[in-house]
Amino acid sequence: MQQPERFSDLPEYAFPRLRALIEGVAAGGPLLPMSLGEPRHDLPPFLGEALAKHAGLFGRYPPNEGYPDLRAAISGWLRRRFGLTEAATDPDAHVFPLNGTREGLFAACLALVPERKNGERPAVLIPNPFYQCYAVAALAAGAEPIYVPAEAETGFLPDFAALPPALLDRTAAVYLCSPANPQGAVADLDHWTRLIALADKHDFRIFADECYSEIHRGTPPPSSLQAAQAMDADPERVLAFHSLSKRSNLPGIRSGFCAGGPKTIAAMRKLRAYAGAPLPGPIQMASAEVWADEAHVDASRAVYMEKFAMADRILGNMEGYRPPEAGFFLWLDVSARHGDGEAATLKLWRETGVRVLPGAYLSRPSPDWLGGGDPGARYVRIALVERPEDVERGLTLIRDCLG
Ligand SMILES: Cc1ncc(COP(=O)(O)O)c(C=O)c1O
Repeated sequence: MQQPERFSDLPEYAFPRLRALIEGVAAGGPLLPMSLGEPRHDLPPFLGEALAKHAGLFGRYPPNEGYPDLRAAISGWLRRRFGLTEAATDPDAHVFPLNGTREGLFAACLALVPERKNGERPAVLIPNPFYQCYAVAALAAGAEPIYVPAEAETGFLPDFAALPPALLDRTAAVYLCSPANPQGAVADLDHWTRLIALADKHDFRIFADECYSEIHRGTPPPSSLQAAQAMDADPERVLAFHSLSKRSNLPGIRSGFCAGGPKTIAAMRKLRAYAGAPLPGPIQMASAEVWADEAHVDASRAVYMEKFAMADRILGNMEGYRPPEAGFFLWLDVSARHGDGEAATLKLWRETGVRVLPGAYLSRPSPDWLGGGDPGARYVRIALVERPEDVERGLTLIRDCLG
């Protein structure tokens, strides 16, 4: 199985593929979007005022490393949320604001993956299915992306430790998304601890995509940084990513950060000094207020709880349904009745107007040595981001059409 080796060989991005799939097919009802992970809950109520207060900063070039207020707010949040120490969260050394996590997840490979690892072309390990940015990042850095299945047998997280030691020795970095998009699986502290130990043994970095950490069903998912602190790991092993897009329903503000060891952050800062687009000043200052407030996050989580309960109630008896641990997606196995996720997506669109995403648009076929097949093909991804009444209608239509 030959994987795409260049950017130009990659398939179209998931959403243009979805548009092409349903183009020319009339919707069977009013459009109900459940494909894109764009949270539609309330914005933090103080946002407008916070932006207006600092509007004058639009007249200044924003600092690459972020205003001190923003870095301090991020550090404070990391300490409160994950119990990290002051030493591990020094705002000058350990955190770096990003224009949303996507650009940081991409930049991480350029900044931190070397040209050679132990004399060989480096590998970057990626869960399969995955957030598509990881693959482009690995290819842009000249590394070989290796797509490691994250299916039911391994708790919907990739089992990197089971890979051949020679591959792990040339691995420069791994991406792990927890809570995972799309499967909703969570890496617990033990999982992170074992991964950090593996990274120590084979000398690679961990890019921990934790942007769904605040959307959970009661037990807050831990951070990789907590595990690193508890085991007194080399702080340069882990670079964790967080975002206001999911936590605070602000995908349009483009505000996130990465946190990790001082050398790692220095490399990110250097790359972005040359090629980055810093967050606009007013957005930095408003983001500081948003990271400091939890009331709006709690309120939004309560709405997600309502929707999780709705999913359990409406889809609970449907073959292929599995309640997610966290995040806001359902990863529904439709293979028993519909063959694959594309067929189910088309049927649902044609008969109801509900738009979901075929799982295969988020995955790659596996080579035989990794078990073959395509870990996304049997699934559709359903986003629970619309208002509860719309989600309820959508889930009911899904059950009646696909169940
Ligand atoms: C797994 C994952 N990582 C990162 C991102 C990027 O989010 P943002 O750039 O808005 O922070 C997303 C967005 O959908 C995502 O699903």
